[in-house]
Amino acid sequence: MKISKKVAGVEYAIRDIVSAAREIELQGKTVDYLNIGDPVQCGFQPPQNVKQAMIDAINNGNNFYTRSEGLTELTEAIAKKENAKGLSISSENILVTNGVSEGLDMVISSIVEEGDEVLLPGPYYPPYASYVRLHGGIPIEFSVDLNSSSPDVDDIKSKITPKTVAICLISPNNPTGLVFNENALKQIVDIANEHNLYIICDEIYDQIIFDEKFTGIGKVADDSPVIILNGFSKVHLMSGWRIGYIAFNNSPQLDDIRENLQVGNMLGWITVWIHQDHELKDNYEYIDYAFPSIVEALKSI
Ligand SMILES: Cc1ncc(COP(=O)(O)O)c(C=O)c1O
Repeated sequence: MKISKKVAGVEYAIRDIVSAAREIELQGKTVDYLNIGDPVQCGFQPPQNVKQAMIDAINNGNNFYTRSEGLTELTEAIAKKENAKGLSISSENILVTNGVSEGLDMVISSIVEEGDEVLLPGPYYPPYASYVRLHGGIPIEFSVDLNSSSPDVDDIKSKITPKTVAICLISPNNPTGLVFNENALKQIVDIANEHNLYIICDEIYDQIIFDEKFTGIGKVADDSPVIILNGFSKVHLMSGWRIGYIAFNNSPQLDDIRENLQVGNMLGWITVWIHQDHELKDNYEYIDYAFPSIVEALKSI
């Protein structure tokens, strides 16, 4: 049967490789899947207090829709976290979503129209291009120097056209692990401001840092149209719970998008994490554990 042209045009390279890998597995060979960024599937678990908060919520009858922006306690806790990283916003600027994936879909669908172009740092986490295409846009890759962790500013400038609507960043990056420093972030914010572009920054790995210092884009945002995407899948080991959020900077240019994106969310009963994050810290052991073992495993291939 017919499917829409929009969906037919969406590709996801990882899925294609996984299909090929499954065929090899069917032939009896062992395949190690390094594509899924999910520590929970490697034996790690969300903090016990977070699990308990969810169990209590269910048992206490809190199984209804929350307010559409997300539970107030949660949006307040998230605003506090983002402010500590550099923004200066209130809980009204937070929208809780079903994972970063839904947040990304919502943001892209709000700003991209047929033929619009979105700049992405190459290589990027594939859904960025997929959602741009799904909403009729064209993903355009710009170069990043992996050695100096800096964006190629000339390349970005040369790729901006009248059709460009946004620059996306993923820092820390999947798949490269690259973390943009303050100077790099500032350069990108300046270019975006010069050309009246949205800046979308995915910081889902903001607390999974191995050897570099993390700087949030909030530090250099001032009143620029910066939209941060973040969530609980990675740092909080809650990938299956599907909780993420959009944090809108205090920018008059974001008023329309913020007011129009009020769609609603559910699982908000995890606010305990922000109050008792000492338990979360125990989970960081997985970073100490995972990093050397991944390096060893890769070396042995
Ligand atoms: C950069 C990046 N953003 C977003 C996601 C997905 O996040 P969520 O589970 O919140 O949808 C991933 C998952 O691998 C990711 O690597």
